[in-house]
Amino acid sequence: MTPVSRRPAVLVTQPIHRSASAKMVSAGLEVTDLASPVPLTSDEIVQRLGEAQALVCQLTDRVDEHVLSQPGLRVVATVSAGMDHIDLEAARVHGVHVVNTPDVLTEATADLTFALLMAVARRITESDALIRSGGFHGWKLLDELMGADIAGATLGIVGMGRIGQAVGRRAAAFGMSVLYHSRRPRTDLPAQLEARHAPLSELLKSSDFVSLHAPLTEDTHHIIDARALAMMQPHAYLINTSRGPLIDEAALAEALVAGRIAGAALDVFEHEPRVHPVLLERTERVVLTAHAGSATARTRERMSHLAVDGLLRALAAQPAA
Ligand code: DGY
Repeated sequence: MTPVSRRPAVLVTQPIHRSASAKMVSAGLEVTDLASPVPLTSDEIVQRLGEAQALVCQLTDRVDEHVLSQPGLRVVATVSAGMDHIDLEAARVHGVHVVNTPDVLTEATADLTFALLMAVARRITESDALIRSGGFHGWKLLDELMGADIAGATLGIVGMGRIGQAVGRRAAAFGMSVLYHSRRPRTDLPAQLEARHAPLSELLKSSDFVSLHAPLTEDTHHIIDARALAMMQPHAYLINTSRGPLIDEAALAEALVAGRIAGAALDVFEHEPRVHPVLLERTERVVLTAHAGSATARTRERMSHLAVDGLLRALAAQPAA
């Protein structure tokens, strides 16, 4: 009897761009698009996976050993640069190829990082709120909403990958000095990026702004804890557009209340989407955005396409046994 040849099946958890989804259909895949409005737990993914060989997920889905050990699953494509929601060790053990979307979100994320740096330094959200509440009564030399200078300040970048470097380029253009910390000094930085490698403690002690751009791993979890915050200068600001758990949020809340650092601008949160109540309440020198580093229409569309292209390539390279 001739075996029935089945089209490779792919499960898509949450909505992606239609044009990217259509690409999978054109490539002959059987696409089950759950378009779930909420992230899926690993049990929910397993229940829906059936015999799918590929999974398209997002950073809020949990892709653990339970998912990765499902027979037949060969490729996981995440529509994100970060992969901390995927158990990469389990993927390796079970031979599941993982693809992600680096590069395409570098500039958008660096832009938002800089927007946050400027917003918190120049107190833009506070100024906006002041006007809307009717509290602006004209220019005063001794204004209450004094900000911090950016030109001439030192920016400490923790994690000097693509996004860290893109933030470094912006900082240099704004007249800042740049320090960076990564596991090892990088020998491949472009010459025009005048950034000096420093141990984390030196970077924290010497920077006026500290910006986090490291992936979330066991080593970087709570890299900014009470001890690290105590090393920062009282006039310094902390910016995070990478992953929330890099910061011990309770320690940050305490440091802000005690005035151990001047302020924080955060796009990501330790227990996302929940935000520490002190950070929520505090509007003075605290700026919050909703995990929006890559949130430009073009970047997000490119992410969907890059994930799908990677998935198609990986499936083609690993035909079903
Ligand atoms: C990513 O892709 O990891 C980003 O956090 C999404 O903005």
